[in-house]
Amino acid sequence: MEDAEGRFVNIDFDTLKAGFGGASWRIIAYMIYKVFHNKIKYNEIHIDPLIVDSKAQGNGIGTKLLNEAFSYTKTGKRDKVSLSVVNTNTDAKKLYERVGFKVIQTVYTGYFTHSAGFDTVYYMEKQL
Ligand SMILES: CC(C)(COP(=O)(O)OP(=O)(O)OC[C@H]1O[C@@H](n2cnc3c(N)ncnc32)[C@H](O)[C@@H]1OP(=O)(O)O)[C@@H](O)C(=O)NCCC(=O)NCCS
Repeated sequence: MEDAEGRFVNIDFDTLKAGFGGASWRIIAYMIYKVFHNKIKYNEIHIDPLIVDSKAQGNGIGTKLLNEAFSYTKTGKRDKVSLSVVNTNTDAKKLYERVGFKVIQTVYTGYFTHSAGFDTVYYMEKQL
């Protein structure tokens, strides 16, 4: 997670790689969307990225982490959680919609990201 002051925890490349299951296109996708993503405002917490160990996925941990992020966000003068997801990550997008995120901006990135396997980034927000 990060706020307007910066990241709460720095993630090294190996951790990121393990989190994305070693899939290089996903890491490239992540790096590219970082270049595009908007500046974080003082009323928001940005989740970037959400990763659950591949062996533990599908057991509700991602949902619990998101709910914890919502609770934390409400402890400050913040009312918004934001994140981004690429168009090929349909399962993650479905999860985010299930917990209340809405797409607020759709950005075509295909010229830069087509070879990384995606062409659109969805910026999503949940108002608290
Ligand atoms: C996306 C992610 C964080 C979700 O965490 P999780 O603990 O598996 O999520 P939950 O168990 O709480 O929820 C599962 C839901 O997420 C969706 N999902 C997304 N990716 C999934 C995966 N790899 N395995 C299982 N479910 C996944 C399922 O569709 C499921 O929806 P449903 O409950 O309506 O059937 C996790 O799958 C992950 O780390 N994926 C790889 C990294 C990634 O792509 N992160 C998102 C970057 S924007």
